[in-house]
Amino acid sequence: MPDLEPDTVSALEAPEFAPAQFVRWFRDVAPYVHAFRGKTFVVAFGGELVQAGALNALVQDLSLLSSLGIRLVLVHGSRPQVNEQLRLKGFTQQFDRGLAPTDAAALECAKEAAGEIRLDIEAAFSQGLPNTPMSHAHIRVISGNFVTARPTGVLEGVDYKHTGQVRKIDVDALKFAIEKGSSVVLLSPLGFSPTGDAFNLAMEDLATSVAVALRAEKLIFLSSGQGVLNEDGTVDTELARVDADGLLAAGSLDEETGAYLQYASLAVKRGVARAHLVPFALDGSVLLEIFTHDGVGTMVVEDTLDDLRPATIDDVGAILSLIEPLEADGTLVPRPRSVVERDVENFTVLEHDAVIYGCAALHTFADEQMAEMACLIVHPEWQGSGEGEILLRHMESRARATGAKRLFVLTTRTSHWFMKRGFVQGGITDLPREKQNHYNRSRNSLVFIKKL
Ligand SMILES: CC(C)(COP(=O)(O)OP(=O)(O)OC[C@H]1O[C@@H](n2cnc3c(N)ncnc32)[C@H](O)[C@@H]1OP(=O)(O)O)[C@@H](O)C(=O)NCCC(=O)NCCS
Repeated sequence: MPDLEPDTVSALEAPEFAPAQFVRWFRDVAPYVHAFRGKTFVVAFGGELVQAGALNALVQDLSLLSSLGIRLVLVHGSRPQVNEQLRLKGFTQQFDRGLAPTDAAALECAKEAAGEIRLDIEAAFSQGLPNTPMSHAHIRVISGNFVTARPTGVLEGVDYKHTGQVRKIDVDALKFAIEKGSSVVLLSPLGFSPTGDAFNLAMEDLATSVAVALRAEKLIFLSSGQGVLNEDGTVDTELARVDADGLLAAGSLDEETGAYLQYASLAVKRGVARAHLVPFALDGSVLLEIFTHDGVGTMVVEDTLDDLRPATIDDVGAILSLIEPLEADGTLVPRPRSVVERDVENFTVLEHDAVIYGCAALHTFADEQMAEMACLIVHPEWQGSGEGEILLRHMESRARATGAKRLFVLTTRTSHWFMKRGFVQGGITDLPREKQNHYNRSRNSLVFIKKL
């Protein structure tokens, strides 16, 4: 490893360094690296992160993402810094999270604060000392007039003056910068109107508008909180948008988490694939959120989990009509109505607007701590949007709940779909004994097994 700096080498040679673990970790990360190359992430953080001294560590992690081919747009806030400027200049106004008017003096403070933070961020991206994660990074940061704003105007008799809202994002220019220019775009919470005026914008509104306009893969809010917490105090790592909206309506979240969650939900509703609330106090939190299975914060998804439910006897007809075409072409083993009726409790169905468009069945083999997933089907019209994967994940957690340690499938035509999702080929002798006895040798199905 001739190019490694001495310090890095000594870290690798430290007694606690475990090569096998390192290689395994690196390989585990590979699918995420492949999946996210060329995708756009919008990363948003308040001035609180800068105040807390977490900027350098974040920039190092963002540089790594950029080097892995992830396209980044950063949106920073500046509320504490604007308040500090106001205080220093002897003004009594202080901004909190709510909507407030921005007068001419406050706008000047906002411009100064934005300028200062922007320079700090640009400086952080320009680091390149040897023995640091920024060595050889060469990240180009671009800012500009990408955001057109409009005045909030007069609301209930109050003139909000230079407080504004996002009117338009120059998507072409942004895409050009992140795609062709391979640059990181940095946006301050200020927008400009065709009259040449500047407006003070809410960072959350700006980040969400940009993520929606770019149809970003991810919108990530770095928060001083941990994310959304469960009743037992642990972080709720995945939240369907409808559940996020339920929590917001219940009004039990703290102010910051509530504000970020509201925009996360909006972003997902408007087409951003996933929105995250990630704690900035945890070193490396963005990397952990992106490259580990459960992450460390809360991820909001527009999920069809709501469409999943256990099957009832009334669903037998619909299940049979999903199965029949696949029996005819040999993809699935024939199942008479009586068998589906008998086993209907093993089935989970996907239902939307009273239409059953997918199903899967789970058979457990308690002695061997194994479970079989059978009859995984998504109606052809709904295929290719991740519904199969949602069903699989659900069946995996059902299997886990029964105490199963391994999930297996028998397949003739879908082996690659399962392999891509972590199944490895096994043999007939790997199956539970009862299943081996009933194995249909003329069908010659392949056995695929996944550790749970
Ligand atoms: C397998 C099945 C459930 C997947 O459902 P889905 O909702 O389309 O799944 P996802 O959207 O999560 O995945 C779609 C991806 O799987 C791929 N795929 C679909 N069928 C596949 C197959 N037989 N082999 C390999 N890949 C397959 C698609 O090309 C798509 O790939 P992409 O993401 O690279 O574009 C669905 O194709 C199906 O019902 N097939 C017929 C029934 C069947 O074979 N069931 C398994 C019985 S063991």
